[in-house]
Amino acid sequence: MNLTTLLIRLCLLPLLAFSPAYADADFLDVRTSLDRDRSGKRGDPKDKYFHESTFHSHYDGRFAQKEVSADVRLDHLTALIRTFLSTMADLGAETWIMHGTLLGWWWNEKILPWDSDLDVQVTERTMGFLAKYYNMTEYRYTIGNALNDEEPVSRSYLLEINPHYTIRGTEDYLNVIDARWIDTENGLFIDISTVRVDHEERKKGREGALMCKDKHTYLEKDIFPLREGIFEGITVKIPYEYEWLLEEEYGAGSMAVTEFEGHKFSSTSKLWEPIPGWVRPPKRRPTRKRPPP
Ligand SMILES: *[C@@H]1O[C@H](CO)[C@@H](O)[C@H](O)[C@H]1NC(C)=O
Repeated sequence: MNLTTLLIRLCLLPLLAFSPAYADADFLDVRTSLDRDRSGKRGDPKDKYFHESTFHSHYDGRFAQKEVSADVRLDHLTALIRTFLSTMADLGAETWIMHGTLLGWWWNEKILPWDSDLDVQVTERTMGFLAKYYNMTEYRYTIGNALNDEEPVSRSYLLEINPHYTIRGTEDYLNVIDARWIDTENGLFIDISTVRVDHEERKKGREGALMCKDKHTYLEKDIFPLREGIFEGITVKIPYEYEWLLEEEYGAGSMAVTEFEGHKFSSTSKLWEPIPGWVRPPKRRPTRKRPPP
């Protein structure tokens, strides 16, 4: 262990007790608190592996009956990313953040408070490694709060790898998410996707071409060498051309506009603060034509 790792560990101790319990878990073992499966399995096409819940696409319905209330969702997501990053560091599995999670890092090294999902990526080699040795392993963490005297809670997380991860093409559109890190208490999860060498594009002369099954394409130089950063207090890897990647995905405004989804970015606190009294504008319904009398 080098000094940096040691220091990070020491800083982390008040937050996470490293007591991952390694166990091969069966769904039914892990699913202790649910009388009913809300995974929408019956409605999903039969070749789809992961089943999001019927009530919200950012929950795994095997572990959740309802959405987590808004006031604690961010705490759960924070614990989700911290435990994931710590576990991957322990396993020696390289991973980096992407999409909205990367945007949150760009602003203030935190999850965007209106988000309900998290996105990370790994290489094909890492996904192969996780699939081979760690599929369906469950990790139990004791999560305390260093900042107040709340009782530490014990939570358990499941690493599950989609067997379709070996199918490389975008035609397998039902299985674009290669793996998930799932909170077994409430069904919230991190999407883990594999970034693959795009042989077709390289044959056409596009040097360093990479692709994901979700149709995102990159060049090696956009992602590598990975940079080091901090996210929610934990060391994290950041794709090299992060600003370019964010601009391409969300537009330059995503790094300039300081008011979004009922939040305003405060330059003093460096936090997205809720705008008091903000109400989400109602979705406009298509006006229904009255049937003729
Ligand atoms: C992971 O385990 C689950 C449950 O046993 C299984 O359905 C799935 O195919 C496995 N994934 C891989 C990549 O082997």
